[in-house]
Amino acid sequence: MKTSGAGLAGLAITSCGGKAGSSSTNLSLNTGVFNRPFNTPPELLGTIDPATGNKVFNLSMQTGTQRFTGGGVTNTMGINGSYLGPTLRVTQGDVLNLNVTNQIGQETTLHWHGMRPPSDMDGGPHQIIAPNTTWNAAYTVNQQASTNWYHPHPHGTTARQVYAGLAGMMIVDDAVSAGLSLPSTYGKDDFPVVVQDRDMNADGTFAYSVTNMEIQQGKKGNTLLVNGVIDPVLDVPAKEVRFRLLNGSNSRIYTFQLGGGIVFKQIATEQGLLSTPVSLTSITMSPGERAEIVVDFAGLVGQGILFQDAGTGISLFKANVVANTLAVTTTPTTLATLTPLQRNQAVGTRQFILSMGQGKVYINNKQMNINVIDETMVLNDIEILDIQNTSNMDHNFHIHGAFFQLLTRDSGLPKAYETGLKDTVYLPANSRVEAIVQYSQATVAGAPYMYHCHILEHEDAGMMGQFTVA
Ligand code: C2O
Ligand code: CU
Ligand code: CU
Repeated sequence: MKTSGAGLAGLAITSCGGKAGSSSTNLSLNTGVFNRPFNTPPELLGTIDPATGNKVFNLSMQTGTQRFTGGGVTNTMGINGSYLGPTLRVTQGDVLNLNVTNQIGQETTLHWHGMRPPSDMDGGPHQIIAPNTTWNAAYTVNQQASTNWYHPHPHGTTARQVYAGLAGMMIVDDAVSAGLSLPSTYGKDDFPVVVQDRDMNADGTFAYSVTNMEIQQGKKGNTLLVNGVIDPVLDVPAKEVRFRLLNGSNSRIYTFQLGGGIVFKQIATEQGLLSTPVSLTSITMSPGERAEIVVDFAGLVGQGILFQDAGTGISLFKANVVANTLAVTTTPTTLATLTPLQRNQAVGTRQFILSMGQGKVYINNKQMNINVIDETMVLNDIEILDIQNTSNMDHNFHIHGAFFQLLTRDSGLPKAYETGLKDTVYLPANSRVEAIVQYSQATVAGAPYMYHCHILEHEDAGMMGQFTVA
């Protein structure tokens, strides 16, 4: 199936100064006063179809309205609600049946970012859902415990649909993670943290529009939201608490930290648990990246701990520590057994050059053409991905249907917290990473997988390519 129209692809963008990350001129609505309840999106466990044993999820992509402050009403989109969507909870081995109904009045898709479905179930630009129709994505959960997410992926209009509110988390559980002493009571000591920025008017409304400069730099918002809420406050028990962080923003890169420089542990990267927790005082995340962190609030009853972005200086939410009533957990020093792919297993190196010129964005000097397959991979091959950002602006790189592990960053070792299973990697201006990947999923005819920059304005403007695996 082909998409209608090329969207922003091919659009010339006039040159403008500044890097991704430069802030909006508008005033932020983040006040530093935390008086709205933290929103934990509802968990959707699915229902078992008695005939097949499959786990069924009914998802409705719909339009709605939302008041983000006391002020005006924003026209939004959400899944089974008016903004964002439920947290889908699945277990390794589940056979999923995801019925996705498009009620947003325009073509869309729903992509399971970080999951590894067959390519025709991936929800990429080729699996268009026409308005008022339902798409059934059926696949087996074939991966380890991890924090993933879902969002639309129609070529040329992804940025505006995500910005309107179409996104949600998708958590995979498995026997390994269930057997570990980790915080795992959803909404009690295990919280999704979907961070987004929106360019808000003074009355708390927003609408997606981009200038040529914003296409080049990525759309940035002046106001930061957590799970769709500005300035939320959350009661946390005085014990270990897990936060599943997702940078769900169109383009902003965050460096998260806790007030007072509190040390936390990272326990997982995008596609699963690390082999051992990594102690950190901050973590940098580009759009699409996930991380699971554990913060130990034991002994802090009565204190308010701020969760901050060092880049903007904005505090996103406040955690008020209250007496613990849950069973105490002790994050173990061994989490998962990772068997890293080794450089000498690779059959070769494939280069991806992320570049910009005359305001256009490219991968390997090309822009996305829905009718062109850019790369052909061999099933089960292990390869090194040599990913270079040769531009003066930040980008990142995401691949569908696979995970990778970093071998090097700027010719040195990757950071300890980057050594887990990943599907999205940050590439600051003029930087380079080498990653190792295995293509273990053959593509279905007519349904290539995508690789792209996850700065959504860049993706829509053509910083994306397609590959087959056979
Ligand atoms: Cu999260 Cu191809 O996307
Ligand atoms: Cu993806
Ligand atoms: Cu980019």
